[in-house]
Amino acid sequence: MAQDVRLLAAEDRLAAWELSRLAFGGSRQSPPQLLELAPGRYDWGAFDDAGRLVARAVDREQCHWFGGRLVPASGVASVAVAPEIRGTGLARRILTALLAAARDRGAVISTLFPTTQAPYRRVGYEAAGALAWTVLPTSALAAIRQPSDVVLRPAEPADVPAVPGPAAACWSGRSRRSTRPRKPYWPATTGSPWPWGGGGAIEGYASWDRGPGYDASGRLSVFDLMGLTGPATTALLAMLGTWTSVAPALELRLPEPDPAILLAPFVGATVQSSQPWMLWPEHVAGSVDLLLTDDMCPWNAGPHRLVLDGGYGRLEVGGGGDVRPALLDHF
Ligand SMILES: CC(C)(COP(=O)(O)OP(=O)(O)OC[C@H]1O[C@@H](n2cnc3c(N)ncnc32)[C@H](O)[C@@H]1OP(=O)(O)O)[C@@H](O)C(=O)NCCC(=O)NCCS
Repeated sequence: MAQDVRLLAAEDRLAAWELSRLAFGGSRQSPPQLLELAPGRYDWGAFDDAGRLVARAVDREQCHWFGGRLVPASGVASVAVAPEIRGTGLARRILTALLAAARDRGAVISTLFPTTQAPYRRVGYEAAGALAWTVLPTSALAAIRQPSDVVLRPAEPADVPAVPGPAAACWSGRSRRSTRPRKPYWPATTGSPWPWGGGGAIEGYASWDRGPGYDASGRLSVFDLMGLTGPATTALLAMLGTWTSVAPALELRLPEPDPAILLAPFVGATVQSSQPWMLWPEHVAGSVDLLLTDDMCPWNAGPHRLVLDGGYGRLEVGGGGDVRPALLDHF
């Protein structure tokens, strides 16, 4: 029976790595970099009476981008329990300790990519979206016009502090997904990352890897595509469309769903892989008063209240009409 749940110390890291290798596979050689404690990363472990590490989980300090705000979060990873002791409540115990500590350092939500959803659902996470690789002919984007008031330029390392919003939005969140650490993120891809500047402000960002070949095998792999406004995203999509002559295939890593598909004809697009992500707490309760406008069907217009309760959302007529979603202003 596990006695002790605590943060791992440097001397526990080899045992932690061994437990992960046992659960997830991998080389038998210990990569030294995995044995170092990194800032913003909290390794939790559970030990049995003999002091043996029998469970582990990692809390990564992150911020997720929701509706234009960075929300402090705990990104959970590397959850593993020794095979002979699974099903005895250890994952629940270690996650309980991890979430309490994450809460103490300011995290209000937690996210993870599950290999299996059931154990996480039992402790309060729920599936909230997916990160998908979508493949499409680059020519599908070739007809998109560059917005006239948009300036595209290559990113410089000096731009990093100026792109906290888009960069923070870039993993599985955007305003409707998660995640990236708050610390400046610079993509380690072999292609050029490009921010989008309009009026001096960077409002969008893309990074990609240009694979080999400029015949039919040419491919552009876009890891990040994000825009805070419709024109910013359109500018980046139009730029991607210009690759059609040398990279006929385009693969985009996008959350599901992503508003980019409202801005471009994704003709011939197929989802190559999709990785669901989960959010804790499972049920968020609250309400927001919206003012809807609809010139085409004015009977839909007026104040409405969006209510989230018990895992369900409903839109009711009424409320103060306080909020008009900023996102809608951009499309
Ligand atoms: C997934 C894993 C971490 C679960 O650890 P565990 O210690 O066995 O889980 P617990 O005993 O704490 O179970 C927590 C809850 O999840 C439920 N649960 C656990 N495994 C489950 C499964 N495979 N299917 C359905 N429910 C499961 C338990 O019933 C329990 O709910 P309850 O308390 O209401 O009964 C463990 O099986 C493991 O290490 N698997 C291999 C590595 C892995 O897949 N890690 C996840 C990476 S995302």
